[in-house]
Amino acid sequence: MNLNRRKLLSWFGLGWLASLLPSSLIGCSEATTPTASSPAPAPESVAAAPSGSFKAIGTVAQLDKAGSLLSDDKQIAVVRDPQDAKKLLAVNPTCTHNGCTVAWTAASKEFLCPCHDAKFGANGAVNRGPADKPLKRYIAKIENGQVLVSV
Ligand code: FES
Repeated sequence: MNLNRRKLLSWFGLGWLASLLPSSLIGCSEATTPTASSPAPAPESVAAAPSGSFKAIGTVAQLDKAGSLLSDDKQIAVVRDPQDAKKLLAVNPTCTHNGCTVAWTAASKEFLCPCHDAKFGANGAVNRGPADKPLKRYIAKIENGQVLVSV
């Protein structure tokens, strides 16, 4: 009797595992696997993981007029990618040296820190110290004339 119960439980265990298999295969196959006919789209900009929702920072017209956008809470700065103006780059403008807010300088296409003159590229990379870590990056995109950033 004990052996039969053990066999029965093992069959239930296998059945339960088997029931999970099809749904996990579907979850992996269509949404995440690019095919030859439909390759995965490249992100508009490389940044933090695309988790969370997108937040509107401003309009494309505002971005193009001012050259950069800064969110109301000053935690996100967006500029056009100097390498490809169709793409956007978004960073946290908080300097990684001591926390001052960096400002976009259109002439040199860099973020400049007013406190100790660190410079960061449009992609947040350190161009000049004393900062030694890049600015945090976010994913940005344009949708219906709005500049959206993943937060
Ligand atoms: S706080 Fe930015 S360089 Fe020091």
